[in-house]
Amino acid sequence: MKTIHVSASKEYDVLVERGLLHRCGALIRGVCRGQSAAIVADETVWALYGEVVSKSLRESGFRVICCTFPAGEQEKTLETYAAVIRTLAAEKMSRSDCVVALGGGVTGDLAGFVAASYMRGIDFVQIPTTLLAAVDSSVGGKTAVDLDEGKNLVGAFYQPRLVLCDPDTLATLPPEQFRAGMAEVIKYGMIGDEDFLNSLLARPAAEHLEEVIAACVAMKRDVVSRDEFEQGERRLLNFGHTVGHAVERCRGFALSHGEAVAIGMAVLSRAAVNKGYCSEETLTRLLQALQQYDLPMETDCTVEELSAAALADKKRSGDKLRLVVPERVGGCRIETIAAESFREWLKAGGVQ
Ligand SMILES: NC(=O)c1ccc[n+]([C@@H]2O[C@H](COP(=O)([O-])OP(=O)(O)OC[C@H]3O[C@@H](n4cnc5c(N)ncnc54)[C@H](O)[C@@H]3O)[C@@H](O)[C@H]2O)c1
Ligand SMILES: [Zn+2]
Repeated sequence: MKTIHVSASKEYDVLVERGLLHRCGALIRGVCRGQSAAIVADETVWALYGEVVSKSLRESGFRVICCTFPAGEQEKTLETYAAVIRTLAAEKMSRSDCVVALGGGVTGDLAGFVAASYMRGIDFVQIPTTLLAAVDSSVGGKTAVDLDEGKNLVGAFYQPRLVLCDPDTLATLPPEQFRAGMAEVIKYGMIGDEDFLNSLLARPAAEHLEEVIAACVAMKRDVVSRDEFEQGERRLLNFGHTVGHAVERCRGFALSHGEAVAIGMAVLSRAAVNKGYCSEETLTRLLQALQQYDLPMETDCTVEELSAAALADKKRSGDKLRLVVPERVGGCRIETIAAESFREWLKAGGVQ
């Protein structure tokens, strides 16, 4: 088992081990003394893993409450949030009980916000079942739901008590979801660790998932423990995301988040070469990794479409945009640019 200890406003462990799901009850009992555990899961994940998790929780003495909702980002809404939180109230969950998020980032974000706000905050455990959730969304304490006006507009910083990651659950993940998670994995290599990126190029990540996940979690932990509330360094985790979010906005649900981030990283790195921030070699290595894991590197969205979408994004502060720009593999910097010059960055990044 790999254990990554996180020291943020709460201290907690991220445990990564194959087969962990079957003994999650005892591990959750170790951090939560309450009587009831509410499992929040989308219907797809519930059908696959709901029973295993419920059984293990019951064996550890929990009364299990099940809150399911249809799978998909379009369900990460205030309406689903209200339905889940009202189930907790109807079941008379108390402040000492806990919420267990079983699923991908949608479930984690939604259940986390439920846990953050129900009775002003109850214990929360994450059991990520997508690669994206394992390496990114389950660690760090960002929780949120979407509004029609934009993604993640309502939420809270709220750390879990425990994160249990069982890489065996990723075996049932559709290939496109695995690929999407790989975009975030590659992102860690680009922002923080050249050797790690090399290891992804040398050997398929699927062959050593425990190590890959633990390495990403440790990198995220390091960043989050230094800057939990995203005042500075944590913004590095947004590499590829300013352009990526803009692509997502333009193409709706036709692209996954990971594919959009892959495009974003490629565009920004091309621009970085053209503007003299990094060498051609840095770009080549990124593109090799994206290609190896079957991720897109180009978009047919136009400069006009993308700049309009990015400027509507909440990450804009005033008339400035923050871009994460690679200087080398394993090292990126944050550049604050005038919103007007974003078009020029997109053009330099090969967008038409
Ligand atoms: N909180 C954060 O720091 C953070 C970071 C990154 C992304 N996010 C959020 O995460 C969300 C995306 O997460 P996601 O990509 O995991 O999406 P998701 O939760 O919708 O999962 C993707 C799909 O995979 C299915 N699935 C999940 N696990 C499965 C398994 N083991 N086997 C088969 N199918 C499975 C789900 O039912 C769903 O259809 C977005 O809402 C994004 O905003 C949050
Ligand atoms: Zn992301």
